[in-house]
Amino acid sequence: MKHQTLWIYSYARRYFKAMVFYTVLGFVGVGVSLFISWVSKDLVDIITGHNAGKVISTFALMVGLNIGMTIMNMITDYFASYISMKVDAEIKSDIFEKILVTDWESLTNYHTGDLLTRWSSDASNISSGVLSFIPNALISIVRFVSTFIMIIYHDWTFAVFTFLSLPVSLLLSRTLMRRMVNNNKRSAAMSAKLSGFNQETFSNIQTIKAFSLISLYVGRLKQLQKEYITMRLDFKRMSIWTSLLLTTMGLIVSYSAYAWGIFRVWSGAISYGTMTMFLGLSGSLTGTLNSITSLVPNAIGLTTSAGRLMDIVEMPREDYSDDDRVGEFLKEHSADGIGVELSDVSYAYNNGNLVFEGASMAAAPGEIVALVGPSGEGKTTMLRLILSLMKTGDGQGVIKSGDDTMPLTPATRRLFSYVPQGNTMFSGTIAENMRNVKPDATDDEIRDALSLACALEFVEKLPLGINSEIKERGGGFSEGQAQRLSIARALLRKSPILLLDEATSALDVATERRVLKNIMHDDYPRACIVTTHRPTVLQACSRVYAIKDKKFVVLDEDGIKKLIDDF
Ligand SMILES: Nc1ncnc2c1ncn2[C@@H]1O[C@H](COP(=O)(O)OP(=O)(O)OP(=O)(O)O)[C@@H](O)[C@H]1O
Ligand SMILES: [Mg+2]
Repeated sequence: MKHQTLWIYSYARRYFKAMVFYTVLGFVGVGVSLFISWVSKDLVDIITGHNAGKVISTFALMVGLNIGMTIMNMITDYFASYISMKVDAEIKSDIFEKILVTDWESLTNYHTGDLLTRWSSDASNISSGVLSFIPNALISIVRFVSTFIMIIYHDWTFAVFTFLSLPVSLLLSRTLMRRMVNNNKRSAAMSAKLSGFNQETFSNIQTIKAFSLISLYVGRLKQLQKEYITMRLDFKRMSIWTSLLLTTMGLIVSYSAYAWGIFRVWSGAISYGTMTMFLGLSGSLTGTLNSITSLVPNAIGLTTSAGRLMDIVEMPREDYSDDDRVGEFLKEHSADGIGVELSDVSYAYNNGNLVFEGASMAAAPGEIVALVGPSGEGKTTMLRLILSLMKTGDGQGVIKSGDDTMPLTPATRRLFSYVPQGNTMFSGTIAENMRNVKPDATDDEIRDALSLACALEFVEKLPLGINSEIKERGGGFSEGQAQRLSIARALLRKSPILLLDEATSALDVATERRVLKNIMHDDYPRACIVTTHRPTVLQACSRVYAIKDKKFVVLDEDGIKKLIDDF
């Protein structure tokens, strides 16, 4: 728990001034409310004749104080919301960024729904806790102590009532605490499961309909909701019992205080005003005491959330420290082109699946190199290694221009354009999607790239042309059209190395040929690596690597011919 607390502290200290301001406002509030009790005591005493002060002026003072108190509460409330929203936004953008620079492979161990829940609700818990926890603790303590002193000052016998409910509160908070740790974790895991389920369902509606799975999925949701409700109700029952006990205790305390007050007034020890003041104060003391004892369970809620966030933000980060050197490398060699070379590389996924062992391959500027092999042999894995999405085991990969080399790192990614397998367009217009990778691209540049990818022909037929909307995951376009848009996006970036992962698999053979021809005849000295199942591409390639026994072998002409014939 210490670790989590320190982590929260690292965020909290950024808002030190805001916390001090909020706390001071709270202290002033405590002072004013005590002063109000005092004035109201005077008022009762004046009315009941114990004190010959002026009724009207005292009454006016009390009304004024109450109005002042209301205004101050409004200011505090506004300020608290402002700060907590600001902290919330800051923590969330911070964690958003951290998730994006987290090592990709580690991140794939988490379901997106789980990541989303951690990012949204756990971060919200922290942001509301950062502001309220320490200031509220301080304010409660100051309220408790000052009220207590005021009671002792007027009649020490009433002080006894303050601690009457303490043993019960402490006992309850211990039970509450244990249950809470457990419940917090389960509830967070359950929300993550629910949000993952919904997200996956909504993004696969087509499949669900096609397999007539609607009632199955509705049933599954109901089952998940039932589990969630059962769990929450379990906790709710406990908190209702807890609050029932606390309320009963509170009532016992206030009735005893009431009886004792009447006795003291009857025996002439105190005035009516003092009695009403005590009754008010004893209520506020019990409340304050309860909120102090609930600090521990609150702290537990906070540390649980912190722990869940730390799980993700403390995963290994990608190292971009080479960024400047890569920039220089690019400047120096962009005219000659830059290639990529891997020597004796091995790689196993973290589930132990060994995909490469001693694999070597290279693609020089101006070359198109093909990686072929049956499904599941490691073509995509190799591209991920080249992009440093994953670290190689043995061996190493470099970017290379002439004799100059630099190791592949996350920073070298900026030298690549990648057309991944599957649909990876974002929602927004075609032009927006293109400018994602090159913000200053002119409309003409976008059209040129679309034309190279043989996409302009269908884009121009759309009423809005390059300003047509693409829906989520390329919606609104056919698979082959989305592939061509994705290729155009990669070409627009004009990077030295182009990686195409089955990027033309959904195109007809004629269009596929035209696209590849265009890429080859582009003047830019690009190194290009394509993975493919289709032999149409192979004759156009400088070299064809086949994956065999976790290594690459270069196919000779006969080998390529055999591949084409076998297709
Ligand atoms: N995230 C992952 N975790 C564990 N194993 C993985 C992961 N991704 C892929 N693999 C495994 O690595 C091997 C190579 O997969 P890869 O995706 O590189 O194949 P591929 O040659 O691109 O196949 P395809 O032609 O079907 O696209 C497969 O056995 C696959 O099961
Ligand atoms: Mg693949």
